[in-house]
Amino acid sequence: MHNAIVNQVLPALRMMASGENVLTLRLDDREIFANATDEQSLRELLIMGEDAKILVVDETTDPTDIVSDLEVKLSMWKEEREDHPDYVLLKDIGLVALAQHAAQLDEMLGKDEHDYLVSFGRLANKIAVVTGAAMGFGSGIAGMLFMEGANVVIADWNEVEGQKAADFLNKEAATSNRAMFVKVDVSDAASVENMITETIGFFGGLDLIVSNAGVLRAGGLDEMTPENFDFMTNVNYKGYFLCAKYSSAVMKIQSKYRENYFTDIIQINSKSGLKGSNKNFAYAGGKFGGIGLTQSFAMELMPFKIKVNSVCPGNFFEGPLWSDPDKGLFVQYLRAGKVPGARTIGDVKAFYEKQVPAGRGCRVQDVFRAILYIIEQEYETGQAVPVTGGQNMLN
Ligand SMILES: NC(=O)c1ccc[n+]([C@@H]2O[C@H](COP(=O)([O-])OP(=O)(O)OC[C@H]3O[C@@H](n4cnc5c(N)ncnc54)[C@H](O)[C@@H]3O)[C@@H](O)[C@H]2O)c1
Repeated sequence: MHNAIVNQVLPALRMMASGENVLTLRLDDREIFANATDEQSLRELLIMGEDAKILVVDETTDPTDIVSDLEVKLSMWKEEREDHPDYVLLKDIGLVALAQHAAQLDEMLGKDEHDYLVSFGRLANKIAVVTGAAMGFGSGIAGMLFMEGANVVIADWNEVEGQKAADFLNKEAATSNRAMFVKVDVSDAASVENMITETIGFFGGLDLIVSNAGVLRAGGLDEMTPENFDFMTNVNYKGYFLCAKYSSAVMKIQSKYRENYFTDIIQINSKSGLKGSNKNFAYAGGKFGGIGLTQSFAMELMPFKIKVNSVCPGNFFEGPLWSDPDKGLFVQYLRAGKVPGARTIGDVKAFYEKQVPAGRGCRVQDVFRAILYIIEQEYETGQAVPVTGGQNMLN
């Protein structure tokens, strides 16, 4: 894909073409479309060709020139007709379809379709990326965003589980929003940039990124190798910077072309970002640092209506990190005799649950409620919201 053109042109087009409701866009860059030279040759390729409302843009190379051309042509278009174009042909690049929701884009670009209701959830038609969404918290958060009507990008380095999660959502979908999988390594700049380009190419913009992918290799100073320290820091700390860098660039463009359009960058932090963690400093240090990034990004990005917040969950006892029967922390702590007198995994779990005033571990639903709170606020940025059942309290 033409990264710079996709990342700069589509978010601007999305906002310039939208009326009361914000549109969803998709770029089809197959050669047959990219090589179409005029409206007539394009009509012959389209299913609804005869009636399609098509706008042709002649600029081909510089994203700024393409956006300027679009700006002029769209304002003339709007003067003459009530509605937005169905398609915009970007010569040499591809065909962009514009619609109220993603299921309509499937139809317009000739994809297989099933019956659906137009999404009506609290996040209907929003476009959200969740990193580390193949399993654990990320997978749960992506599922709940989808249930609230959002288009969701499952971004993860685990291709098998990530693709499965996206297929599952699309198969079960009774509504007009869609999911897609993108393979990403959040610690690699080119990979994160590509994740954003894939998202924009498929949905046309970005309203929310949940920087959730995280890794944990515990150990005190004697055990921690410099390699493990770098590995964790690159995923947990640098990965958040890269997600914020490439997503904010797109969000800024949207804010330029639509007044008062709020978007969100949310980092899934941890209670270990609020309080030191014994023999787990590489994790806690990266998470503390993440809150520093959140506060600083929040100051820089609020002028563009981009809110930046962290959510700090308590221990997710039901997730794989703790409950995996072979390598989960419960079974590891049982084998290591870390909890005095514990004979079963249940004993170890009860020991940890007792440390939480709410008497249980954190669940996806708890984290999701905090995410919804943040998204629906226009007056909250730079915060670290604890979701710890009372185990960690702010000063
Ligand atoms: N599990 C807990 O008790 C707990 C508590 C508080 C906060 N958290 C935080 O929640 C987030 C999710 O944790 P989880 O327990 O659900 O983890 P998990 O191990 O169950 O899932 C993490 C996901 O991230 C993916 N991932 C890891 N590194 C990646 C990379 N470089 N690029 C792309 N994807 C990558 C993995 O493939 C996996 O799908 C993390 O940021 C973690 O620090 C977890």
